[in-house]
Amino acid sequence: MRILVIGSGGREHALTWKLRQCRGVEQIYVAPGNGGTAGIATNIPIAVSDIDALVSFAREKSIDLVVPGPELPLTLGVVDAMVSAGIPCFGPSAACARLEGSKSYAKEVMAAAGVPTAAAGVFTDLGSARRFAAEHGAPLVVKADGLASGKGVIVAMTQAEVDDALALMFQENAFGSASSKVVIEEFLRGEEVSLLCFCDGERALPLPSAQDHKAVFDGDAGPNTGGMGAYSPAPVLPDSELGSMADITVRPILAEMARRGTPFKGILYAGLMMTDDGPKVLEYNVRFGDPECQPLLMRLRSDLAGLMLACAKGDLRGQDLDIDSRSALGVVLAAKGYPGPYPKGMPVMGIAGAMEEEDVAVFQAGTRMEGSSVVSSGGRVLCVTALGKDLLDAQSRAYRAMRKISMEDSQYRHDIGLKGLRRLGLA
Ligand code: AMP
Ligand code: GLY
Repeated sequence: MRILVIGSGGREHALTWKLRQCRGVEQIYVAPGNGGTAGIATNIPIAVSDIDALVSFAREKSIDLVVPGPELPLTLGVVDAMVSAGIPCFGPSAACARLEGSKSYAKEVMAAAGVPTAAAGVFTDLGSARRFAAEHGAPLVVKADGLASGKGVIVAMTQAEVDDALALMFQENAFGSASSKVVIEEFLRGEEVSLLCFCDGERALPLPSAQDHKAVFDGDAGPNTGGMGAYSPAPVLPDSELGSMADITVRPILAEMARRGTPFKGILYAGLMMTDDGPKVLEYNVRFGDPECQPLLMRLRSDLAGLMLACAKGDLRGQDLDIDSRSALGVVLAAKGYPGPYPKGMPVMGIAGAMEEEDVAVFQAGTRMEGSSVVSSGGRVLCVTALGKDLLDAQSRAYRAMRKISMEDSQYRHDIGLKGLRRLGLA
C-alpha cells in the first residue's frame, strides 16, 4: 500500500510513524512533512492547500490511501477531490468539514441534533453583538466564526474584555473574513476533555479520552496555543463512559449529517466541557488534534491504515479498537515567544538520546534537517511522548526524556497531566 500523508506537524509525524507499522504499507509520502517525517518517509514539497497538486501527485504515484492531518485541506475539499479521482481519502467532505470551519454551522447542527452545548447568539454586525452582550453580561466567550488557527476564541471575563473582543473582530478585522460572523457564547465552567471517534458515515468507534493543555504556561496561564501537551486516558472521562458520551455528543451529529445527505467520515473530535449540568460540546474538530494524536496513537494497537480505509469505504462493521491499557503523555517543546513571534533556526540537540528511553517517541513538528542536524522552523518544535504503567509513570518518563533534549530559546510546560493526577488523588 502507498500512502500520502498531508501536513507538517507533530500529528503528521505520529501518523506517519504509526502507518509505517501497518500491514502491507510499502511507501509513505508526506506533503510537505518536517524534519521528523524526512527520516521515516519521503517528504514532497507540496503545500497542504494546493489541492490540485496533491491530487496530481496521488494519481502519478498510484496512492492507495490519502491521510490529511490538518483542517485546512479538509475545508478546501481535499477529500471530495481525491474521491472524484478515485483515490480513497480518510476524512470528511468539505460539507462535513464545515463543522469545524464554521462555528455557527456547528451550533446549528448541534441544535438540530439535540447535542448539549453553550447557549449562543450569532452576529454579523457590531451593534447587535454589543446589545446581546450587554443583555447577557460577562463572562462571555467571543468566537470568530471561521478558521483562525486556534486563535479566534476569546474568553472575556469582564464587560470591557467583551467590548475589546468584539472591536477586535468587527472593527480591527483581526481575523480577516473569519470574524465577519461572530458567535457569542455562555461561559461554561468545568474540566475540558476530548473525545475522538473513527466514523464511517453511520457508525462511530470512540478512542479513549485525551486531555489537551491549550494555554502556553503552567497552571493554564497565558494565551492559548495549538496545544502544549496531552495525555490519555483522562480520568475525567474514563473508558467505561466512552460509549455513553459518544451517544450524547457524536452519534447524534452523524445521524444529522447523514439526514442532510452529507454523511460524516473520518475523525470527529468533540471538545467537551464537563460541567455540573453534564457534558457540553465546546467545539468540533474534523481531524485528529495535535498534540492529542501523539499519545492516542502510542496507545492504539489496531492497524491504523485498515481502520482508515474502512472509514473511507463507509464500513466500520466488524472493526474494533485494540488499545494499550497503559497511559500515554506528550509534552511539547516550543520556541520561546510562541504563540506570539518567536525565533527560528535553533539547533535541536539530544533527540536520539531521548528516543533511546524505553517506550518513548519524539514526534517532530516545526523542524527541518540541515545536513544531518535538526533545526527548529516553527513555534511548536516537537512533542516527547511516553507510555507508562499509569499516568504518573507516563509523565515521569516523558519529562525524563525531555530533559535529554536541548534547544536555545525554548520553553515547555512542567505540569502536563497534573489535572488528571489531582483527580486520581496523586497530586
Ligand atoms: P474552541 O476552539 O471553541 O474549543 O475554544 C478554545 C478554548 O476556549 C476551549 O478549549 C476552552 O478552553 C475555551 N472555551 C471555548 N468555549 C468556551 C465556553 N463556552 N466556556 C468556557 N470556555 C470556553
Ligand atoms: N490541540 C487542539 C487541536 O488540535 O485543535
